[in-house]
Order: sequence, then C-alpha cells, then structure tokens
Amino acid sequence: MKKAHDPLRSTPLEQLTPIEARLEWQALADEIATHDVHYHRDDAPVISDADYDSLRRRFEGLLAAFPDLQKEHSSLTRVGAKPSEKFSKVKHAVPMLSLANTFSDEDVSDFVDRVRRFLDWPSTREIAFTAEPKIDGLSCSLRFEKSQLMVAATRGDGEEGEDVTANVRTIHQIPAKLHGHTPDVIEVRGEIYMATADFLALNERQEKEGKPAFANPRNAAAGSLRQLDPAITAARPLKFFAYAWGLVEGAMPSDTQSGMVKAFHAMGLPTNPLTKRCVTLQEMIDHYRRIEDQRASLGYDIDGVVYKVDDLALQARLGFISRSPRWATARKFPAEKATTTLLDIDIQVGRTGALTPVAKLQPVSVGGVVVSNATLHNEDEIARKDIRIGDTVIIQRAGDVIPQIVAVVADKRKQNSKPFAFPDHCPACGSHAVRETDPKTGEPEAVRRCTAGLICPAQATERLKHFASRNAFDIEGLGDKQIEGFFADGLITRPRDIFTLEARDARALKKLKDREGYGAVSVKKLFDAIASRKSVTLNRFIFALGIRHVGETTAKQLARHFGSVDHLRDVALKAAEDGAAARAELEAIDGIGPIVAGSIVDFFNEAHNREELAALLEHVTPEAMEAVQTSTPVTGKTIVFTGALVRMTRDEAKAMAERLGAKVSGSVSKKTDLLVAGPGAGSKLEDAKKHGVEVIDEDEWFNRVGA
Ligand code: IVH
Repeated sequence: MKKAHDPLRSTPLEQLTPIEARLEWQALADEIATHDVHYHRDDAPVISDADYDSLRRRFEGLLAAFPDLQKEHSSLTRVGAKPSEKFSKVKHAVPMLSLANTFSDEDVSDFVDRVRRFLDWPSTREIAFTAEPKIDGLSCSLRFEKSQLMVAATRGDGEEGEDVTANVRTIHQIPAKLHGHTPDVIEVRGEIYMATADFLALNERQEKEGKPAFANPRNAAAGSLRQLDPAITAARPLKFFAYAWGLVEGAMPSDTQSGMVKAFHAMGLPTNPLTKRCVTLQEMIDHYRRIEDQRASLGYDIDGVVYKVDDLALQARLGFISRSPRWATARKFPAEKATTTLLDIDIQVGRTGALTPVAKLQPVSVGGVVVSNATLHNEDEIARKDIRIGDTVIIQRAGDVIPQIVAVVADKRKQNSKPFAFPDHCPACGSHAVRETDPKTGEPEAVRRCTAGLICPAQATERLKHFASRNAFDIEGLGDKQIEGFFADGLITRPRDIFTLEARDARALKKLKDREGYGAVSVKKLFDAIASRKSVTLNRFIFALGIRHVGETTAKQLARHFGSVDHLRDVALKAAEDGAAARAELEAIDGIGPIVAGSIVDFFNEAHNREELAALLEHVTPEAMEAVQTSTPVTGKTIVFTGALVRMTRDEAKAMAERLGAKVSGSVSKKTDLLVAGPGAGSKLEDAKKHGVEVIDEDEWFNRVGA
C-alpha cells in the first residue's frame, strides 16, 4: 500500500496524467477506508490525525482536479464541478418510510400485542424486538455498489430525495469503501447528526462571523448537509449512525435486525452502541428507561427509542401500513414544557375554509427552540381550557409537533380578563362561519368554516399556495408571499392562471419585471419554473387539487389505482349518481374509507371544480405513476381469500396481496380473478365455480408470488 510520503503523492496535481491520477486516487480511497475502520470501528488509529487529514486533502484535491474521476466513480456526484443551483433528485429503489409514534408503556404493550395478533403469535411464544435510540438528525440513504459508496440521498418525500453524495463524501465517519464481505448492492440507511459540542462550537463560529445561529443540532446538521458547496459541509463535523437498509442485491448479511446492525458495524459503518435485543416487554421498557437516563450525557440529541421486530422474515410478513412499517414503532420522550404569556389569538382561514385559532405567545425557549406560536386546535378546546388573551400559559413541544398550550396558570389571571369570543364571521371575507353537523354523530363539527367557498380570498389564496407548494406542483419562485401579491393584484386567482401568466404578461402594458422585487432575470426564472411544471406526476397533480382529506399518501394510492385524472373523475361522478360499484371501487383502495371517498365524490361533483380541472389539463400533462410493483404475477388482479389460512393470517394475506399490486375483495363476482381457498371454504368456493373464477390453495399462492 502506498504511504503518505509516496513520491507520487507529492507530485503537484497539475503535473499528474489522468491515468496516474486515477491510480493514486483508487489507492487513496482504499487507504482512507482502512484508516476509517481502524479509527471508528476498532478505536485504534494507526496514523496521526494530521497524516489522516493530509490523505483526505490529497483525495479531495484529486477529485477537484480530475472531474472525470468523479464521473467514473459515480455519474451522480459533482465534487470539483461547478455547484449547480439545486440538488438533483434521486429515486429511492425502496421507499424511505417513517415511524408511528407511541408515548407510554401501555402504547408499547399495545404495539407488541398488535404485532402478535397480526402474526397470530401466541403469548407463550417468544418474540424478539430491538430497542435503540431514536437519533434526532436527518435520515440518509447510502448506496454502495461492490462496496463503493456511489450515491447518498436525503429522505425527501420518501420516494425521491436529494442527491447529497458530494457532501456525504466529506463525512469522515462514512467510509468511501465498505469493509469485508458485502452484498453487490446495498442501500444503507441511517441518521446524519451533529454532536452537541460540535453544534455549540459551530454556533460560536457563526456568531463571530456575524451569521445567524442554528436553533438546534438537527437544523445545523440539515443546513450543513444541504449545502451546494461540499467544502462548507466538509468544514462542519457531521456524524452518522447506520440502523436500516433499503435495496439489497446479493446475499443478506443476516436474517435479523440486530444481526444487520452488527454487519454494518463490521463493514466499517458507525452503529449505535445502545442497540439491544429484547425478548420481553419488560426488557423493552427497561431499555427505554436506561436510554432516557443517559439522554443528557450521550453527547448528541435523541428524541426517543425505536423498537423493531428482530426477525426479518417476520418483518416481511408484517409489512407496512401507509408510510410506516407495522414491525416498528418509536417511543417518544415526554414533551418539554415552558411558561409564557398569551399575547393574542389569531384566526387563520385555511384552504377548506376552516377557521383555525393560533396562539401568539411572548417568545420563549422550549428545549432549545424559541417558540412564539402555538396551536389552539378549535373553539371547543379554547372554551374547555378557558384560555383567555393575557393569560399565563404552560406550553409544550414534542419533537416536530407544533407547540401546544397544555394549561392556563389560573392564579396568574388578570382580574378584568374575559372569555375568548370565537368569531362567527370569516375574518378574511366577512361571510358567515358555521359549524356543520357531523352526519354520523348528529353533533356540530369541531371546526367552524367560512361558507363563502372560493369567493373567500383567504380560501382561494390558501388553495393556490397549496397548489404551488413543494409536495404539490413545487413551483420555485411562487411561494406564499408571491401568491398573496399576485392574488391581490388579480394576476393569479385560480390555478390555471399560473400557466397563462407568461402569455398574459407578453400582452400586458405593465410588465411583471417592473413589479417591486422583480427584474427581467427573476421573471424569466419564474416563467421557466412554471413551464417546467407543465408535466408533473399524477400523484402530485391529484394532491395539488386540494381535495379535502386527500393528502400525499392518498393521492399516491389514487394515482396508482386510476392511472389518470379522467378515470378518477369518471368513477367519482358515477359514485355521485348513486353508483354503488363505483363507490365500492373507491373504498376498496387501501387507506380510503367512506369519509375520504365522500369528499372525493363531492369534489368532482362540483361543476366549478370540473371546469377548473378541464382548464388546467389544457396546460398541464400529468404523468402516470409506476404501480407499487408493476411486474408481479398478481398486479392489477382482484383476489378473494376464503377458508382457513395456515401460513398467514387474513390481515397478512390482504396486506401482502396489496403490496404486490393486487386488489383484495370480500366477495366473489365475475370480476374476481383469483380465489385463494383454504380448508373449510364454503359459499365463496361455489360462487367461484359459478363465475368460472380460478381457485388455488395457499401453497400455490406462495408459489405464484414467489414468497
Ligand atoms: S428506523 C422503516 N431507527 O426517525 C423504518 N429511524 O420518525 C426506518 N430515526 O425517518 C426508520 N433514529 O429519520 C429508525 N434508530 C432509528 C432512528 C430512526 C432516528 C428517524 C428516521 C426516520 C424517523 C421516523
């Protein structure tokens, strides 16, 4: 192996031929990876920090001087290239999910019970879980091919993240090359974070340089990773813990969660030493307490403990609901509290006309974050807690959740204070604001809504903001402020106006470029951004419509199921005409119940929504999404399970079929493609014969889906 004093290494970079550079660079990568393992895995460095740093400097220097090396190594990195204006996108081969939260011992016990029930696992039979700290950083997916780090991506929306490879390469704890035996391709996932001491030092530096301080280590880590110039990331000490994985091609290093974490460690990746395998609920709870006790002295921020089913075969059986695995949950630490004064109560009007009260607080620091707003939920909540303007209130903040008012300090109340009178008119347009009756309970809904619909300027602007927002059309340069300005001037009042803006501006006397805050360059940028969004993915398009109860996940389900807006609209319209089959089709989609189906139907049944949709489709082409798994033998098929199942529970069977892109129905009709029948099957088996539906048994099902 070449040493730091190797003659080649002292050759000025500009005198190296590309081939020499390539050889040296490869050797350096290996050498650095080895030192990383000595240092991080074995805690036994064999060279001094200064020597190590000089190796790294030479390595970065080579990359900067020979951009071709970089290209060869990964077509997606860009060290040495001119920083682009934006990170490019990386599609995750396997989506990056989030975790459901629990808050008490009882919640954890319920989680274990749910897992057992789903698997039909008797309480007498042992089931192991891992318990480990929940790191308060940002998750990152590292793709290694033949042990080499190829791509690093942020979580993004879970399906697609930002390419931060060049920046991740500057993180010393993340090896450029994995150690030992590794799968051909492995996406290692984990958390990038900043240690408390490094965060404090960074803030001190920021302050000295007259730059704004970061609110907490997580923001500092995120801000440092999402730098267009990798040199800035390199100057900020980021760290990493590996705890999960996405795609794996080749042999799995282990068949348990705990084994995988050990394997990551052996590959030279940092893993958390507080990861423990537990076989009883008591052990799980005890480990949570142990981690909670050590929280302040860990040297990095954590916000809870994560539990995962240890056996990977069981993880696979459990699968996912929506965006979270059924086999894992987070137990969050209790929220942090503080006392402050309630200065005012603002009423905000949302895009569905909901009047939402927001507490304006005397700014106060809660767990290191300055809080000046808190949610008040709705008018009943204000009345129930008798919250009054001027009160001294106790607020709490837990993780990412919006701060809440938990209680009023009664003996500090001013004598002349009056109960808060919730407005019965919309503060934006003056129309009546009412509480509709919930059809199910016959009780008034918790939310009061403005009755003006799109005529209400607040609702119209909120809808536009939603339409252009990051997870919808993602139009750069058309943020909340710009929309408010354009709306006020009547330039953009409906979504379609966004796409006619440029043509109208060409004809207008008063040009956009002459507006305050604009110029020829920024207007061109805006027009380009709008033009680039004339094709968007169907799920974004559906989400952007702002149908009540249709969030990103539901929008994805709808996009996958229907494949086009026209199809979705037609089914919704049929359902509105009392079409039971159409409604059943909607409600058969994972995650869609009667309430969501109802609001989809209402949306398309409204003539002005259809008109806006048609106008939009003249400018915008939604692209169909890929199905969940496009090429399984059961994709697109309608399947019914009946009789006793032995190898899986009914819930599991349904989840598995849906994961493979099939629809699961409760009854057999001529539309059924397949009946999976176990012992004791009765009338459904007969129905299947009547309709000529193919019938298979459970073993054949596993054969076909290759499980
Ligand atoms: S496992 C499929 N383990 O928490 C499950 N996540 O709230 C993948 N996080 O997005 C996540 N520490 O950013 C897992 N030890 C840990 C974690 C952890 C922090 C983050 C991660 C995830 C978020 C979900």
